[in-house]
Amino acid sequence: MTAIEELAQIAKEVSGCTSCSLHSSRKNAVPGEGPADSSLLFIGEGPGFHENEQGRPFVGAAGKFLEELLASIRLSREQVFICNVVKCRPPGNRDPQPDEIEACRAYLDRQIAAIQPKVIVTLGRFSMARYFGASKISSVHGQAKTVDGRLVVAMFHPAAALHQPDLKQTIKDDFQKLPALIEEVRKLDSAGSKPVPDATQLPMF
Ligand code: URA
Ligand code: SF4
Repeated sequence: MTAIEELAQIAKEVSGCTSCSLHSSRKNAVPGEGPADSSLLFIGEGPGFHENEQGRPFVGAAGKFLEELLASIRLSREQVFICNVVKCRPPGNRDPQPDEIEACRAYLDRQIAAIQPKVIVTLGRFSMARYFGASKISSVHGQAKTVDGRLVVAMFHPAAALHQPDLKQTIKDDFQKLPALIEEVRKLDSAGSKPVPDATQLPMF
């Protein structure tokens, strides 16, 4: 199966999934979207009101801010893959529960396996926890870590940052680190060195 076919298959399974209780209140499941060969993957938390209405990730206020952040590093949302830890909206935008995250985990695992991104950006605490365990986002935001041969960078959630001036500046600053990081990974890749080095050896960290 090609990456495109696998992503379509995942989207199909997600739209009919009843593996956790979030299925019963969803209007549309939100599998995620973007190029199957994207080198950059963004993982948010879960669909909100607008995402649930439209079946697409990050289409509300947080999405608008994410688009601005991407534009600040000369990227558009069409160039990157965007998805969430849980694919169905938690009622009232409450936090996704551990059992829901666990039930949805295999879909995200399969998306990552299909896309093989070079750099993963986690947005908010729940996607951060996949890679940074119990670390506090206030201490690991803007930092990169090497996991399974790719770089994972933790960022605040754009929705959290949107209305807090300090956090807003912080996430803007953290985004500015991405181009050099992506470039570094590209160089290593074209030099034929498969796994990326320890993140702490990269010049920007
Ligand atoms: N917040 C998220 O975490 N994901 C979305 O898709 C939208 C808002
Ligand atoms: Fe299935 Fe994930 Fe939706 Fe739960 S959130 S019903 S596991 S797709």
